Amino acid sequence: MPRAAVCTAVGEPIEVVDVDLKPPQAGEVRVRLGASGVCHSDLSIQNGTLLVPTPLVLGHEGAGVIEEVGEGVDNVQKGDHVVISWVPQCGDCFFCQHDQGELCESANTAMATNGLLDGSYRFQRDGVDLGQMAASGTFSEETIVPATGAVKIDDDVPMTSAALIGCGVLTGFGAATNTADIREGDTVAVIGCGGVGLNVIQGARYAGAERVIAVDMMPNKLDLAKQFGATDLVNASEGDPVSKVMALTDERGADVAFEVIGLGPTIEQTIAMTRRGGQSILVGVPKMEVMLNVPAFFGVVLQEKTIKGCWYGSSNVHTDVPKLARLYSEGQLKLDELVSREIKLDDVNDAFRAMEAGEVARSVIVY
Ligand code: APR
Ligand code: ZN
Ligand code: ZN
Repeated sequence: MPRAAVCTAVGEPIEVVDVDLKPPQAGEVRVRLGASGVCHSDLSIQNGTLLVPTPLVLGHEGAGVIEEVGEGVDNVQKGDHVVISWVPQCGDCFFCQHDQGELCESANTAMATNGLLDGSYRFQRDGVDLGQMAASGTFSEETIVPATGAVKIDDDVPMTSAALIGCGVLTGFGAATNTADIREGDTVAVIGCGGVGLNVIQGARYAGAERVIAVDMMPNKLDLAKQFGATDLVNASEGDPVSKVMALTDERGADVAFEVIGLGPTIEQTIAMTRRGGQSILVGVPKMEVMLNVPAFFGVVLQEKTIKGCWYGSSNVHTDVPKLARLYSEGQLKLDELVSREIKLDDVNDAFRAMEAGEVARSVIVY
């Protein structure tokens, strides 16, 4: 009986309880979690920003060890260390075949139901089915995931660091290296320097950006941004960040600007601070009712701007996860520096509070 952090309903505190876990079915694996990062999207489910069916086991940024494999699984075996992908990528569907595995069709039912790929459930609490966030459910000592969502990594990557690859790093680093087209010498702006935004910053430097202008409201986040490679810091609580970025770029704007929060006003700022002919990359997940107010002619057409959404860093998890683990082992990717606090599963409500208060880049649950 694993212990798991369950979101019972929107707005309710998370309950950490014993749950039942059925055995893996064909094409599934049972994973004993080593660690799970606490990402803003977990909070977004608890506070209703992301509306999904409840109750469910939260958590989607995890790494662990394969304990058991279901019938027909051949990509991983018992004892393998894996990063869990919250978009299992099948390799066969239209999107996987078009090198857009982050949009894999096989994940659609799981996303809609919080179940596994066929929409059925493996977790139960007192005989009642429990969903699991994004076919993951990493706020649990153990979980069942599709084998296509378990990506093997080398055993020498510590679990706390490996877990972060699963969401924040794939999303942020991927936004800069896959979704955007950053060229050598570019000037990049990043609004929102949390767990995901810091990875956009290090990804932008990796992709060749010469200047990275980091925008946040919290001085501690701007300090971290500098550590992750930002060259210029803008405190958005001290006045309009758009005019500050324009002043830093000869009034031209950034070659590529990223929004990594998910708020309408900051998305509009991101588009406004993008130069003519540049790219605005929208990474943060907004509330579903958010609409954009952008001048179509003067703001987009005349300026030939590209506005591009970013889902899961446009990552192919089967190639990008091992690549990121290798970059970490070679000292080219910062992961340990993202871990502000190592916590216990029981501390997850406090981790949400700390995230809202802007105290942490990442809290990581260590099992
Ligand atoms: N202007 C500038 N910075 C802001 C503003 C604002 N108006 N509002 C919030 N921020 C900063 C916060 O100070 C924080 O540093 O945005 C950052 C958000 O970081 P986190 O809360 O750590 O969120 P993170 O996990 O990085 O996720 C960011 O990406 O994957 C999605 O769902 C996720 O939408 C969320 C986004
Ligand atoms: Zn697919
Ligand atoms: Zn996440």
